Amino acid sequence: MLNKEIQLKNGQTCILRQPQVEDAQKILDYMKIATAETDFLSFGKGELTWTLEEEQNFIKEHRDDNNKLIILAEVSNKIIGMSSITGGKPKRVQHSGELGITILSKYWSLGIGNAFMENLIQWANNSGVIRKIFLKVRTDNKRAIKLYKKFGFVKEGKISRQLLIDNKFYDAYLMGLNID
Ligand SMILES: CC(C)(COP(=O)(O)OP(=O)(O)OC[C@H]1O[C@@H](n2cnc3c(N)ncnc32)[C@H](O)[C@@H]1OP(=O)(O)O)[C@@H](O)C(=O)NCCC(=O)NCCS
Repeated sequence: MLNKEIQLKNGQTCILRQPQVEDAQKILDYMKIATAETDFLSFGKGELTWTLEEEQNFIKEHRDDNNKLIILAEVSNKIIGMSSITGGKPKRVQHSGELGITILSKYWSLGIGNAFMENLIQWANNSGVIRKIFLKVRTDNKRAIKLYKKFGFVKEGKISRQLLIDNKFYDAYLMGLNID
């Protein structure tokens, strides 16, 4: 189980750890804030309607399946970031995991994105299952694209009209990283 301390660029201490089932409500509360803060995610303000049970099951799956992982970032016992790799269910896509990252805006540019990527990729390399990581990112999300490229992700395609927000379409890049 991952549980490590990192030092943020502002001097604060941040804990990176895998969640327990008991963290489900804390994660739902975190996601409520995170999704309201940015339009770079698939869910907007008030759109994430998972029940406590659904969140508990999500945590359990990511704890028990060898192609899934969640890493939380906490400062002063408060969740301020969450990242995950979710491998597919059918045998033919079990090796392929979708990566997701969110961080509260107050904590952007402090190095948490870098720390998440480092630990997610290290886990994937050691998983023995994951051979490919992919993600979708809005084409205007410069900060995220820079981060993904830094860790070796390449653009594999462009999805037009991936998001429709307030009557405006947004394109996304499909980005991928092979794990060999
Ligand atoms: C994208 C995100 C995960 C990045 O995490 P972060 O903790 O802010 O990232 P880091 O502090 O580790 O640094 C990211 C890099 O972007 C750079 N950066 C910062 N602001 C930037 C900007 N406006 N434009 C381009 N690059 C920028 C940083 O300098 C850093 O580069 P470096 O590693 O070479 O120093 C985070 O900002 C976030 O959660 N955003 C909202 C949700 C989101 O977009 N998720 C991704 C959906 S695909």
